[in-house]
Amino acid sequence: MTTTPAVLILLGPPGAGKGTQARMLEEKFGLVQLSTGDLLRAAVAAGTEAGKKAKAVMEAGALVSDDIVLAILRDRMAEPDVAKGVILDGFPRTAAQASALDSLLAESGQKINAAISLEVEDDAMVERVSGRYTCAECGEGYHDTFKVPEKAGVCDKCGSTEFKRRADDNAETVRSRLEAYHAQTAPLIDYYAAKGVLKRIDAMGEIEAVAAALDSIVKASTA
Ligand code: AP5
Repeated sequence: MTTTPAVLILLGPPGAGKGTQARMLEEKFGLVQLSTGDLLRAAVAAGTEAGKKAKAVMEAGALVSDDIVLAILRDRMAEPDVAKGVILDGFPRTAAQASALDSLLAESGQKINAAISLEVEDDAMVERVSGRYTCAECGEGYHDTFKVPEKAGVCDKCGSTEFKRRADDNAETVRSRLEAYHAQTAPLIDYYAAKGVLKRIDAMGEIEAVAAALDSIVKASTA
């Protein structure tokens, strides 16, 4: 790994596997997963001013305003564990966020090692997202069909028997989220291609196959 903290961006529509893969990379490479979706859901649960504004927007499947997201991200990037290097999951999502990230990284002399686009088919994403659930205790992700716990009803990671589903994981909202992705986030693929840091992965394969492709990219881009 390089001595300056690595910065990896996972790009992809809802259900592409950003969260699943970010958690695996976190364990393998000692990086910190930084998910703006998770940070926003925590703000909603805590009832902060930002959370109150974000709640209805998230439930409708639209993007939360850049101001709110950037304020939350800046606070998180200031925490000490980020010095290990980060996997940005679900950020940036707009041109303004990408530009703000460039400025933030320039301030600390960091650069983007790779922006990795997880390439998938929209139709399959509705099934992936609708079947998703997570452990209420440790956050480990599962799927009704594609990733079930080894022992039914018990989390593989922590043994909890409590699971939860996201309020925005229904077929109608997923379609709105896909529309937002294509309109506002997909253009960032060209933005990072122009910077020479874009990598593309076929993310329609099995979770382990996608993980193997990602490992190679992370090793090469952080060497
Ligand atoms: P966010 O939480 O970022 O959600 P998302 O981008 O819609 O992505 P998901 O979490 O749905 O999908 P994922 O790619 O992580 O897939 P996962 O690995 O879970 O954002 C939610 C909302 O917050 C947004 O709509 C917006 O309102 C707001 N927001 C967040 N960030 C924002 C920002 N920067 N700016 C503005 N607003 C923002 O996988 C899905 C399921 O599929 C799982 O069950 C998994 O087990 C399974 N799976 C994963 N990979 C595979 C595979 N290869 N094969 C089969 N199944 C698989």
